[in-house]
Amino acid sequence: MRLFVAIEAPEDWVDAAREVQRSLPDLVRRRARLTDPANLHITLKFIGEVEETELPIICHTLAEALPPVNVDLSLGGLGTFGTPARTSVVWLAVAGNLEALTALARRADAAAAEALGLPLDDRPYHPHLTIARVRQSVPPAERRQIADAVRAMQPPPPTSFTAHEAVLIHSTLGPDGARYECLGRWG
Ligand code: 2AM
Repeated sequence: MRLFVAIEAPEDWVDAAREVQRSLPDLVRRRARLTDPANLHITLKFIGEVEETELPIICHTLAEALPPVNVDLSLGGLGTFGTPARTSVVWLAVAGNLEALTALARRADAAAAEALGLPLDDRPYHPHLTIARVRQSVPPAERRQIADAVRAMQPPPPTSFTAHEAVLIHSTLGPDGARYECLGRWG
């Protein structure tokens, strides 16, 4: 089963993301697959594929490691991942107490590492909310245009939110995108 730990976006961020998706230029809407705003989340730790038998130990270590969750956040502007010619993801930034958010992500990483006997993830943490994924067939020239078009867009109004919970999500990939099921909440 495919798992990740996340903070679920509040309703007004979901509404703002929907609005931003509606205002994406035609090129982006045609060349990228929009994510379902109802699934909007900030990933703290992507765990990936695990055996179902490992779920109890993962839940146990997350329950020990995550609380207390109390992070002041604010919705930021638009951006993309990848160099312009390799633009892959369109996201909304997360602002606010990024120090506390990063510390929470490190606790989730440490818990997953402990539960599964894995090394810690030493890559920088880039919190974001994915709103679109560029389709694989899109050539570099159009990816550059997408990056430029996204950079020219207005950010949504800054909306704050205090996260009090982190969740463990089971993701099932299907032809219409991923289906998410919440397996646990800690805060
Ligand atoms: P993304 O939105 O930037 O693609 C579930 O797939 C969540 O885990 C997504 O938010 C995804 O980020 C994140 N994630 C992080 N690393 C991942 C990886 N190696 N494979 C798939 N998803 C990953």
